[in-house]
Amino acid sequence: MCLDSCRKSIRAIELRVKFYYMVKQRNPKDTYASSTRIVMPNDTNTLGNLMGGNLLNWMDITAAISAHRCSRRICVTAAVNNVSFKKPIKLGDIVTIHAEVTRTFNSSMEVFMRVHVENHISGEQQLCNEAMYTFVAVDQLGAPIAVPDVLPESDEECERFDGALRRRQLRLVLAKKMKPSEATELKALFD
Ligand SMILES: CC(C)(COP(=O)(O)OP(=O)(O)OC[C@H]1O[C@@H](n2cnc3c(N)ncnc32)[C@H](O)[C@@H]1OP(=O)(O)O)[C@@H](O)C(=O)NCCC(=O)NCCS
Repeated sequence: MCLDSCRKSIRAIELRVKFYYMVKQRNPKDTYASSTRIVMPNDTNTLGNLMGGNLLNWMDITAAISAHRCSRRICVTAAVNNVSFKKPIKLGDIVTIHAEVTRTFNSSMEVFMRVHVENHISGEQQLCNEAMYTFVAVDQLGAPIAVPDVLPESDEECERFDGALRRRQLRLVLAKKMKPSEATELKALFD
């Protein structure tokens, strides 16, 4: 009896997983991930400001979860781009990272992130950083594997979706994986 109900539960889970893989499209919202941290003494430099590398690490983890929610595969960081550190983040501040996939290509996904910082005394919230990371979904042997499409809905999502192609071309040209002559969308910006 108990074995039977276990089998049924396993079958139900298998069907759900199968259905998930059959879904070929996602919405950026399906890929949303966030994380919140408080800046501790170990995270700071001698001025009491958060070290940039720590923030990059927290962003990497949040973006990896977003890429994972998009692909349901193992995801590796291929590139870190467009990171800007606009304001120092202080000891005790509360940092929240919001991430979502803007666009997917074959195996790669561009993840957009916003970092909000909450002053631990005043409670004032500020947008401190924005960044784009690129993740690639891989199989158990580390070989790139296809990911579902992401279809934007809101104006902001559509704008990021359109820009993602140019940003991809720029990344691949800089990584010497694409000839500048092939980066047609990027070139069109200057024509
Ligand atoms: C990322 C990685 C899987 C790409 O593998 P690869 O053999 O170079 O594969 P390809 O050239 O066929 O590229 C596969 C995808 O990666 C993308 N890619 C590769 N290098 C890239 C770069 N520098 N920037 C952005 N995207 C890149 C390609 O555009 C391609 O995307 P697509 O399938 O959507 O078209 C591989 O380089 C890797 O495993 N790197 C290490 C990842 C890692 O360990 N990260 C943590 C660093 S500590």
